[in-house]
Amino acid sequence: MSETPSVELTDDIRPNVDDRIAAEAETTLEDEETERDLVVVSNREPYQHEYDSDGSVVVEEPVGGLTAGLDPVVQKTQGDWVAWGDGDADAVVTDDDDCVAVPPDDERYTLRRVWLEDEEVEGYYYGYSNRVLWPLCHDLVDRVEMEPDYWDTYRSVNESFGEAAVERATENSTVWIQDYHFCLAPKTIRESLPDGASMVQFWHIPWPAWDTFRVVPHAEELVEGLLSNDVVGFHIDRYRDNFLECAAQLDDTRVDRDAGVVHVDGRTVEVGAFEMGVDADRIAETAETFDHHAWAHLAGKYDIDPNINVAVGVDRIDYTKGIPKRIDALEQFWEEHPEWRGELTFVQKSSHSRSQIPAYQRAANEVEEAIERVNDRFGTEDWQPIVHVDDHLSQRELFGLYRHADIALVSPLRDGLNLVAKEYVAAQVEDDGVLLLSEFAGAHQTLDEAVTINPYSPEGFAEAIHQSLSMTAVERGRRMRSLRSVVTEHDLDDWVAELLTATVPDGEEFTVEGTDV
Ligand code: F6P
Repeated sequence: MSETPSVELTDDIRPNVDDRIAAEAETTLEDEETERDLVVVSNREPYQHEYDSDGSVVVEEPVGGLTAGLDPVVQKTQGDWVAWGDGDADAVVTDDDDCVAVPPDDERYTLRRVWLEDEEVEGYYYGYSNRVLWPLCHDLVDRVEMEPDYWDTYRSVNESFGEAAVERATENSTVWIQDYHFCLAPKTIRESLPDGASMVQFWHIPWPAWDTFRVVPHAEELVEGLLSNDVVGFHIDRYRDNFLECAAQLDDTRVDRDAGVVHVDGRTVEVGAFEMGVDADRIAETAETFDHHAWAHLAGKYDIDPNINVAVGVDRIDYTKGIPKRIDALEQFWEEHPEWRGELTFVQKSSHSRSQIPAYQRAANEVEEAIERVNDRFGTEDWQPIVHVDDHLSQRELFGLYRHADIALVSPLRDGLNLVAKEYVAAQVEDDGVLLLSEFAGAHQTLDEAVTINPYSPEGFAEAIHQSLSMTAVERGRRMRSLRSVVTEHDLDDWVAELLTATVPDGEEFTVEGTDV
């Protein structure tokens, strides 16, 4: 998902919404017996306050599927969200409890910001999270860079986030922790969690086999930390099974693989696979509004001929996304099938994060170099084979680009799920696009009418591009209708409901007011 446009800060943004929420509606995430409230914990914040060039404060929505996906959920539940306050002007707008009401133009929930010193950001975010756990969990052991300081900082920052979460939690809370930044926070939270509250963590990236995970010296402590939750969720069965295998290595655990539970410290931890969905209806409705006229206008802005075929790739620049290999495959495709020169433009939409890490700078350079190479080799006066869009697109433009792209190339080397694949499918309101999907993306488990590709095989990948572009309209329609029903039937609300239902006793159900869940 991409950034959405900056929103002007209104004067009345300051106050925390607690009072309003209490008076207005109590909590709105409820099961039949108990009303629950939600406390989300994530590294990235959903709204960032920044100074504009004229000194005014503007609000930005950071890039990333996680925050964009969860924000509507927390808005509906009017809960709390604890996250790192990394915007320049974040501190200016928060109250004495480090809280601010968001979204700015329609205050629905409380964002509790956690402040981090530069050394903490270096050790916890750029260090242990993204130089150790990220490559490790993507099975890229050679890319793991371990510094002793990283671990100490990761631990202390996890404690700070844990304390902030406890501050916001009541006996009716479900604390919902996101991702690999917080393996140890659950332990801190468990120590002071009010009776009656529960804790669930969703792991958005792959979980590797024990033989890989044990490479890090603190492997057992990390697993133990996660087992302080009541529920630990992964996208697909394989990651869940790998985690259970890791949990079984600890001395004081008993693992029941069939039931998907770990018995530890007198508690039972449920470990499950809950594949994330996207807000399919909203994406389709938005894409629908982006007609041929709007598309021609956007295409014109980037010198794309709207009358020839378009392939699209949308990624955060990251070495796991396999963008250079995708470009190698395109090069091979145009080499083997010269009849497609001038007949297909590939649009690579990119966004940047973690750019202070040299491996990410190198990844960005490799993408630029590969694009330049192919454009130099095949480009003509009238046709640029690859168009690189790395500036901001609104959600409407992004979903419009998906809708009008004939094929999508989603070819990560390894990916926990890949929401782009699902977004592309949801935007196919004419059922005429073809999704090419890496067999190493978690989404491949359910999107079985995609054209499967192995990103490591440029020949096979090039041939799959050719087959997809040559597919009959009947075949395209059949495949896409099937994919769309998968993505629509298992959408974002379904995912939230399934995951949160796992935190309540059997037979009880969570419902999110105002939704179909
Ligand atoms: O996919 C993992 C993830 O952490 C997402 O949860 C998030 O949307 C994305 O990467 C962006 O990462 P960062 O916050 O480091 O820019």
